[in-house]
Amino acid sequence: MNVTGPQTTDARLVHPVDPGRGPWHRDAVIYQVYPRSWADADGAGVGDLPGVTARLEHLVELGVDAVWLSPFYPSPQADAGYDISDHRDVDPLFGSLADADALLARAHELGLKVIVDLVPNHTSDEHPWFAAALASPPGSPERARYVFRDGRGHGGELPPTNWSSAFGGAAWTRVVEADGRPGQWYLHVFDRRQPDLNWDHPEVRADFEDVLRFWLDRGVDGFRVDVASGLVKDPAMPDWHGPLRVQGVDADGRPHPARDQEGVHEIYRAWRRLLEEHDGDRVLVAEAWVADLDRVARYVRPDEMHQAFNFAYLLTPWRAADLRHTIEESLRANDAVGAPTTWVLSNHDVVRHASRLGTPARGGRMTGIGADDPQPDGPVGLRRARAATLLMLALPGAAYLYQGEELGLPEHTTLPDGARQDPTFARTGGAEKGRDGARVPIPWEAAGPAYGFSRSGQSWLPQPREWARYAVDAQRGVHGSTYELYRAALRLRRERHLGRGDLRWLDAPEDVVAFGNGDLVVLANTGDRPVALPDGTEVLQASDDLPGDGTLPPDTTAWLAG
Ligand code: NOJ
Repeated sequence: MNVTGPQTTDARLVHPVDPGRGPWHRDAVIYQVYPRSWADADGAGVGDLPGVTARLEHLVELGVDAVWLSPFYPSPQADAGYDISDHRDVDPLFGSLADADALLARAHELGLKVIVDLVPNHTSDEHPWFAAALASPPGSPERARYVFRDGRGHGGELPPTNWSSAFGGAAWTRVVEADGRPGQWYLHVFDRRQPDLNWDHPEVRADFEDVLRFWLDRGVDGFRVDVASGLVKDPAMPDWHGPLRVQGVDADGRPHPARDQEGVHEIYRAWRRLLEEHDGDRVLVAEAWVADLDRVARYVRPDEMHQAFNFAYLLTPWRAADLRHTIEESLRANDAVGAPTTWVLSNHDVVRHASRLGTPARGGRMTGIGADDPQPDGPVGLRRARAATLLMLALPGAAYLYQGEELGLPEHTTLPDGARQDPTFARTGGAEKGRDGARVPIPWEAAGPAYGFSRSGQSWLPQPREWARYAVDAQRGVHGSTYELYRAALRLRRERHLGRGDLRWLDAPEDVVAFGNGDLVVLANTGDRPVALPDGTEVLQASDDLPGDGTLPPDTTAWLAG
């Protein structure tokens, strides 16, 4: 076997140590709870807030700093709660405001911060504002809070622009006016049951500031801002022929008219001021699917948000050269504005990384997996996922984990079509399987009803039969389990202040990502051959058992003490 090991001598500094104590968010590990799929206390088959509260100790045992909760507000659930009809209450499906208060109190007692979701781009079509808009004539103040336009064509029968919905189909729906005739069109960048708000309207701005105050006063530690790049639209509303889902430019170099418009930043500056009027270090995190890392960094300038998910990293295939490039560019772009880089590998909108990395593309953009699609290689995906996570947790900055990834959960790739609930599936006529496969309820107990998710055994999405082996109680205390790997990595990350550390590239074979962070040496072998570990180093943690012959196998990451 011919292996060449990395050289730890020739280091190139890419990112300096974060010296100050600074606010908590700069190196926090934040765990995303998707409430409908985490723990169901009342047996309805949908997770709820009392279920979350009852299981918060899991997060302490795991060793994270904070939890982000996806929406639990009143909603017809046309987009799993991202279609909100009242921003200041809790949907009975998930509990009550008192349950939210109890959750906050318990989390704080346990030393966990709590971030909630804020969905400002659109409301539900059942929001009182939209009901009033439909009941009022064109040109009325009620319609002005949304984006209503006359159609094109002689009788207004064509949508005002050619824009597509991110979930498939047109981004406009025509309404029937009071006289029974077809009338204006309203914009919905997502489902037709999610009308876009008009952020030029002072009432919209004032109301959301009030929503922020409402939750800040209840004690939340921050907000994850949904569709942060989408609130402001180009007032000229031009047709768009460029990429659909992310900010980009079309063939003529024109920017996307509904993404990453300059006007969004002023909104976040106002929110930052509002947060700073409250005590404690409250934070804003941007969900901005913007391709250009320098453009993403503009959301985390000193007077705007605190974190922005690094989706470029999430989309990077498991290949050393690509990873090195994204890591370096991310740190460079965020360092330029003094912000931490916020690493993430999975969430409720993407194929879980234990499956994504097991495809021939080794990751990248995917729109769901169905039973008829080529299936990911499970063992390879899991091995790479563990290695990818160990790599991520050694990077300086903050990191987000998605519920279930600490169990090595794969995507549910064989969900029956009839069980699918993501509007993307119906809106694309099944061409895109959608996101349900990443949203299947969590297995807690190998032998429990619905694997301990719900004592009634109900589960709003079917759980695969083979999931008993992923259950928390099947992994706790088991050497080599993914759960114990996450716990060990999080403990070492905290002890060694890796989130505040520096990053120095080390010379290594092409297929290996190799860097130093403080006195830790990190090697991730993305190739298909083993590489030699540097002499005189001690293995502190590896993503899988090492063979003991001084080599690092393929698809494995190791943390070494130099
Ligand atoms: C992003 C959310 O994460 C996703 O689940 C939702 O469908 C869209 N925004 C629309 O709110």
